[in-house]
Amino acid sequence: MAIPMRPAILLLPLLLSLVLPSSAQNCVSETFSNNRLFARCSALGRLSATLHWTYHPSNGTADIAYRATQDSSNFVAWGINPNSSGMLGTNAFFAFHDSSGVVKVISDTLTSYTLSVRDSNLSFTVYSKEAEYSNGAYTIYATVDLPGNKTTWNTAWQAGQVSSGVPVGHATTGDNVLSKGSTDFLSGVSSEGGGNSRLHRKNIHGVLNAVSWGVLMPLGAIIARYLRVFQSADPAWFYLHVACQCSAYIIGVSGWGLGLKLGSESKGITYHSHRDIGIALFCLATLQVFALLLRPNKDHKYRIYWNVYHHLIGYSVIVLSVVNIFKGFDILDPAKKWKHVYIAIIATLGGVALVLEAVTWAIVLKRKSISSEKFHHNEYGTNGYGGRQHQGA
Ligand SMILES: *[C@@H]1O[C@H](CO)[C@@H](O)[C@H](O)[C@H]1NC(C)=O
Ligand SMILES: *[C@@H]1O[C@H](CO)[C@@H](O)[C@H](O)[C@H]1NC(C)=O
Ligand SMILES: *[C@@H]1O[C@H](CO)[C@@H](O)[C@H](O)[C@H]1NC(C)=O
Ligand SMILES: *[C@@H]1O[C@H](CO)[C@@H](O)[C@H](O)[C@H]1NC(C)=O
Repeated sequence: MAIPMRPAILLLPLLLSLVLPSSAQNCVSETFSNNRLFARCSALGRLSATLHWTYHPSNGTADIAYRATQDSSNFVAWGINPNSSGMLGTNAFFAFHDSSGVVKVISDTLTSYTLSVRDSNLSFTVYSKEAEYSNGAYTIYATVDLPGNKTTWNTAWQAGQVSSGVPVGHATTGDNVLSKGSTDFLSGVSSEGGGNSRLHRKNIHGVLNAVSWGVLMPLGAIIARYLRVFQSADPAWFYLHVACQCSAYIIGVSGWGLGLKLGSESKGITYHSHRDIGIALFCLATLQVFALLLRPNKDHKYRIYWNVYHHLIGYSVIVLSVVNIFKGFDILDPAKKWKHVYIAIIATLGGVALVLEAVTWAIVLKRKSISSEKFHHNEYGTNGYGGRQHQGA
């Protein structure tokens, strides 16, 4: 059977273009206490942070200012990861208010995902470090030695909670896991590096799954339930339904695979319920596809059981999909508008289903009354849904 997958595939580039990263805030206008000036700056794109620095090629040192808008009860941190990327191994500076309300700056090398920072020497020389809090933002100043004339370094930055005057933890979703990149202190090129391509893949994972599990599958169910009431749509509804669900399955499984890959790459962070629901969805949907091959003939006495099973699994998949897409939104934490767009789409589908449900009942009841008047009780089938060739699929 030829399955028209084109509509879904045509939608993809459109949706992908919507999720590409948007531009960042401006750093050029920021000023610093004591008339400190820095040669270069870069908006880091995550956690409302900017990095300013002056690199001295003659002695390989850099004067750095990291500024991040943050509540004064929280901490901010910025650091260089000399041998790796991400959090582990980062030589970080932390700024926070200690228990007496004084802004404190400490440096520490992060060796585990559990925060237990104490002021210690870093793997490179720190000539000075300082921090201040004003206008709702922390600023960390540091002068460091960038060893070996190496000018491009992986960096990571963070913001999180303080308890009893010490940093204790941070969120593990959205910007808080994407806040890493690399900075070339010489040329001034700063990028979100690995974080960015990973974010890109997370966005692709999100779009593939939202389109397939979140939109096409419910759409396919609506087609099956409501289109077949119109006799002229028989058997077109059946092929549309199969095409819709098969494209949803193919796109959904690629999105699911990408999700598993992303999960296996994210050390130290597992989104248990999102992953488990995802795996359950894959199993149920796969079952559903194979059940199609085992579908008894419409006159077969077991067909009714198959129908019950098919509807049960189908509706479970849709409910779980929508739940998991919202869990995904919480993890990826994209701009609010994308969540709103999805809510609008799913609400529209729900509204359409509601209206069609009413229309269907009206038609079915009308047919029932006509057929009982004419004593042609079985003309449209006992469920009144009228689909003769593929009734009840
Ligand atoms: C590095 O060189 C700059 C100017 O070239 C100078 O201002 C700074 O004090 C030097 N830093 C160290 C630690 O020698
Ligand atoms: C990181 O690299 C530096 C040299 O650049 C080395 O001295 C240090 O031991 C390395 N640290 C780790 C944890 O591998
Ligand atoms: C840190 O470095 C300084 C200067 O190099 C040294 O005096 C101090 O003992 C070091 N502290 C620790 C905890 O290693
Ligand atoms: C770093 O580069 C400067 C000049 O660019 C040079 O004078 C210095 O010797 C170099 N240092 C190392 C450790 O290679």
